[in-house]
Amino acid sequence: MQLQRTDGQADRKLGPAVGANAAARRQLASLWQRGCEFFGCERAIMGGAMTWVSERNLVAAISNSGGFGVIASGAMTPELLDAEIAATMALTQRPFGVNLITMHPRLMELIEVCLARRVGHVVLAGGLPTGPAIQRINAAGVKAMCFAPALVIAKKLLRMGADAIVIEGSEAGGHIGPVSTSVLAQEILPHIREVPVFVAGGIARGEAMLAYLEMGAAGVQLGTRFVCAIESIAHPRFKQAFIRAGARDAVTSMQLDPRFPVIPVRALANDATKRFLAFQREVIDRVNREEVTQKEAQLEIEHFWAGALRRAVIDGDVESGSLMAGQSVGMVTCEQTTAEILDDLVAQAEAVLASRFATEAGRPIADSAAEMRG
Ligand SMILES: Cc1cc2nc3c(=O)[nH]c(=O)nc-3n(C[C@H](O)[C@H](O)[C@H](O)COP(=O)(O)O)c2cc1C
Repeated sequence: MQLQRTDGQADRKLGPAVGANAAARRQLASLWQRGCEFFGCERAIMGGAMTWVSERNLVAAISNSGGFGVIASGAMTPELLDAEIAATMALTQRPFGVNLITMHPRLMELIEVCLARRVGHVVLAGGLPTGPAIQRINAAGVKAMCFAPALVIAKKLLRMGADAIVIEGSEAGGHIGPVSTSVLAQEILPHIREVPVFVAGGIARGEAMLAYLEMGAAGVQLGTRFVCAIESIAHPRFKQAFIRAGARDAVTSMQLDPRFPVIPVRALANDATKRFLAFQREVIDRVNREEVTQKEAQLEIEHFWAGALRRAVIDGDVESGSLMAGQSVGMVTCEQTTAEILDDLVAQAEAVLASRFATEAGRPIADSAAEMRG
């Protein structure tokens, strides 16, 4: 929304628009002020941690562009995480966070690495964290962020000491819960005021970001939208698959038999997703013929995807790898710098606010802006 000033006449014409733009900027700043203060950044937009993708380059680029980058530690050892944090710190002076998977067998050691490196924010993902994990983070004066898939769990996490909540709807890429972002937002945002709540899943444009901020979110988290950032190290074939895909191509993994649970993962349909169905059928047949036990079969099913995300993101094997992606992939249409992605989101949100201010019928901009803030 950059407006060029030329001469006096143009100035007079642009006057209300310029006023509306300034009011829009102030309004957005006020809507996400809590999130910005929580992170110590200018734009309360978190780069959702994506295993293999959210490494030093993308994380630093997001933080350097005014957002809040988060390292995905995935299955990293404490030694690898330590090196990744140090490398990220070498690329940015700005704050960033670390996402840890609660099921990691060395979770407490990974937490110690974050604390020793003086990371300000630790995100505990992939299941309900334990009390001791949150307490250890709290005791070091570091912010603990946790995912809440329902209001009761959000309240429980607050009692356990969570400093912020992330709600992630089923539109998101990667491992997902069953409830959509719009429903989770309505269920949780009006009732959790004690700590900032960040909304994730299906957000690719500033208008949607603004809607969640106006519903009470302190900020948002985006993953899919950042995969095709120029700074993202994802393989060109992985990025190409994102650019080509539409929303309906990002589907959830299917479970064939209730005896063999499959954790839902949203990814682009490819050869591997087809083979996964055939593989489940074959394993289930072997159980039915008593050739393998139920436990052995469950392990085989769980191992099917081992290493698949790395194969796709790093090696560019887009047929047998896992192309984790959210439904917002349909709005990823080209490679862009991280700064451009963040600028677009902000400009789209501000354009909505500015047009509201500008069209306030017959009233001075200043009055309508004050009324909206009030
Ligand atoms: C390729 C990919 C990998 C992901 N890996 C992780 C992960 O390791 N840990 C995690 O908490 N979330 C992971 N996510 C979820 C993101 O952090 C984020 O919450 C999600 O992408 C937000 O929804 P969106 O995809 O609609 O933007 C991943 C998402 C994608 C697309």
